Amino acid sequence: MQKDMSQYRLIMKNNDWGKAEELSDQQKGLPQPPLEKPIPAEGKVIDLPEVKSLEFDINLNQAIWNRRSRRNYNGEPMSLAELTYLVWTADGVKKTIKRFDRSYATLRTAPSAGARHPFETYVIVFNVTDLEPGVYRYSALEHKLILEAQPQNLAEKTVEALVGQSFAATGNAVLVWSCVPYRAEWRYSTVAHKPALLDVGHICQNLYLACEAVQTGTCAIAAYDQQKIDELLGLDGQDEFAVYIATLGKYDR
Ligand SMILES: Cc1cc2nc3c(=O)[nH]c(=O)nc-3n(C[C@H](O)[C@H](O)[C@H](O)COP(=O)(O)O)c2cc1C
Repeated sequence: MQKDMSQYRLIMKNNDWGKAEELSDQQKGLPQPPLEKPIPAEGKVIDLPEVKSLEFDINLNQAIWNRRSRRNYNGEPMSLAELTYLVWTADGVKKTIKRFDRSYATLRTAPSAGARHPFETYVIVFNVTDLEPGVYRYSALEHKLILEAQPQNLAEKTVEALVGQSFAATGNAVLVWSCVPYRAEWRYSTVAHKPALLDVGHICQNLYLACEAVQTGTCAIAAYDQQKIDELLGLDGQDEFAVYIATLGKYDR
C-alpha cells in the first residue's frame, strides 16, 4: 500500500494563512531580529571587490537559453572577482530600507516574501584564487567574506554531506544557503515556512543565470544529509540549518 503522504504535503499548502489564532511576534511588538548574523570581532574577514567594479555581463536571452545544470568541471581556478559576482548576484544587498511598519529590511537581488530574507550564504572554498580552502560566510550587508572554519579533509566531508555526489568537490566551491527561520516567523509566525522555501529558489535561479556571465558551471543540490552539512557549517540545526546547495565549477565550453 502506498505511504500516506498527507503530512508531508502540508508544507506546500497555505492552510493557516489569515487564520492564525496567535499574534506574530511583530504584532506583539517584540523587537525585530537582526537582518543577518553579525561579523565576529575576531577572525579573518576578507574585503570583496566592489560589485560595480566587476564587468561581467551577458545578454539575458543568451543566459536563459544556455542555462544548464553542469557537473563536469575541469579543475581551472575561479577568481575572487568571479566568486564575488556570483554570491552577490545570488542574494546580494542593494539597499537597506525602513518600512512603513518601522521594521528594517534589505532590498536584494532576489525577491523574498515581506523582504524577510531569512537566509545566510556559506561558501565552501576548494579552488578560488586568493582564498585559502575553508568554510566562509558571505556578509551580504558588509559585502565581505568571513572565514568560519578550515576543517581537515574538507572535500571528503563535503561529499559525504552531499550523500556521495563527488562531482561537487571537483569544482571550485559549493554555496550553501541556510535558513534562520525566526527572521520570517517574527512577522509570519506559522505561515512563514512555505514562503521561505519559495524564496530560496529565486536565489538559486539568480545564481544559474549569473554563472552564464562568468562562464562557470553550477548544479542545484537538494539531496544532502541535513545533520552532516549543518555540522560542517557549524549550524545548530534548529535556529539555523541548511536548506539549499549549489556547486560551482569551471568547465570546458
Ligand atoms: C530543487 C532542485 C534540487 C536538485 N538537486 C539535485 C541534486 O541533488 N543533485 C543533482 O545532481 N542535481 C540536482 N538538481 C539539478 C536537476 O537534476 C536539473 O535541474 C534537472 O535535471 C534539469 O536539468 P537542467 O538544470 O540542466 O535543465 C536539482 C535541481 C533542483 C531545481
